[in-house]
Amino acid sequence: MTPDRHVEAFDVKDGQLVVGGMPLERLAAGVGSTPFFAYDRRLLTSRVESLRAALPGDLHLGYAVKANPMPAVVQHLAGLVDVLDVASAREMRTALDTGIDPGDVSFAGPGKTEAELRQAAATGVVVEVESRGEVDRLLAAGEAVGVRPVAAIRVNPDFAVQGSGMRMGGGPQQFGVDAEQVPELLGLVADRDLDMVGFHVFAGSQNLDADILAAAQERTVDLVLRLADHAAAAVRYVNLGGGFGIPYFEKDQPLDLARLGENLHRLLETRLRPALPEARAVVELGRYIVGEAGVYVTRVVDTKVSRGQRFAVVDGGMHHQLAASGNLGQVIRRNYPLVVGTRLGPSDEDAPEPVTVVGCLCTPLDLLGSKVSLPTVEVGDLVVVFQAGAYGLTASPTAFLGHDQPVEVLV
Ligand SMILES: Cc1ncc(COP(=O)(O)O)c(C=O)c1O
Repeated sequence: MTPDRHVEAFDVKDGQLVVGGMPLERLAAGVGSTPFFAYDRRLLTSRVESLRAALPGDLHLGYAVKANPMPAVVQHLAGLVDVLDVASAREMRTALDTGIDPGDVSFAGPGKTEAELRQAAATGVVVEVESRGEVDRLLAAGEAVGVRPVAAIRVNPDFAVQGSGMRMGGGPQQFGVDAEQVPELLGLVADRDLDMVGFHVFAGSQNLDADILAAAQERTVDLVLRLADHAAAAVRYVNLGGGFGIPYFEKDQPLDLARLGENLHRLLETRLRPALPEARAVVELGRYIVGEAGVYVTRVVDTKVSRGQRFAVVDGGMHHQLAASGNLGQVIRRNYPLVVGTRLGPSDEDAPEPVTVVGCLCTPLDLLGSKVSLPTVEVGDLVVVFQAGAYGLTASPTAFLGHDQPVEVLV
């Protein structure tokens, strides 16, 4: 997608990008320093509304806090979604602080510590167990705190999802219990002091192909129904995963949400509901909910021409927004959508020239945009990197070179 589409999703007033109802310079003055991350409340809300409109009414919507754990964002989303999915004790605390029912919090991830398991058991969070050993540790945690823990088995499926930016299922994995080992595990826990409510299958993330995702959902339902035959009690929880991607690069097209919605309507109506009438079905989305609602804003501190190539040097960089620099798992580096957010007026459209936007770190890895077509860029201008609402600040090496942490605002 071109930056124009992203600019339109926010708004423009007097040549400036409008975020959270405020023109960019005013927002920057309000924040008090650059660089900063700003998340637009209105866009978060409308994204959840479009999901609700497309997905079945009885499919519960989970937000994966890891995508953006800023407490204000999590609090805002807690009022809009049904489940908060957490991956650490801190995320669990952020989720519980919102006042959500602990039974609506799920905790997935390998390597949960004994302390984390005790906290989860004590609070009544649903622990998505990732191995046989973790089941034993959760039982011990329950005993230690005098509570019967609530658990679901995270299943490593016997299939992989093609086209995912990151794959977390199929083949050997640190995630989940291999599907073929689940029946035995269910037998082992049947008479233990554990409330085993169901299954969680999360096979991959950042997928933009609705056909592939729809096929994966179908295979997930097949798998869950097969495994449910081995459960000692009625299955009450089926987490179908997610993997809904967002367009980061120029040729990416947005996900066909309507197609996924139709598929999930059909799967729930014809397969899941008839077989498992007591099961709460959940999809668990991170970046799809928050990614497009966030911008990273950084100020130009220097401009130069080096052997014919124009450079703009900004006060931020890869230490805050690693993904945009191409160093968070990309094989071939491509530019994130980026604009000069203070030069979006009609007169700024003349003769754009390629500019390479680099951060302030003393490494060639600190590249935010290679030869981006931009209007005249001057010291003091504000550069905006889009698609910064997910896996931005908390997925970046903020201590690298000792710069200050950027501010985050929800506006
Ligand atoms: C278990 C689990 N759930 C949800 C997510 C969120 O993925 P995304 O932000 O791509 O939706 C991840 C991502 O790693 C995950 O591992």
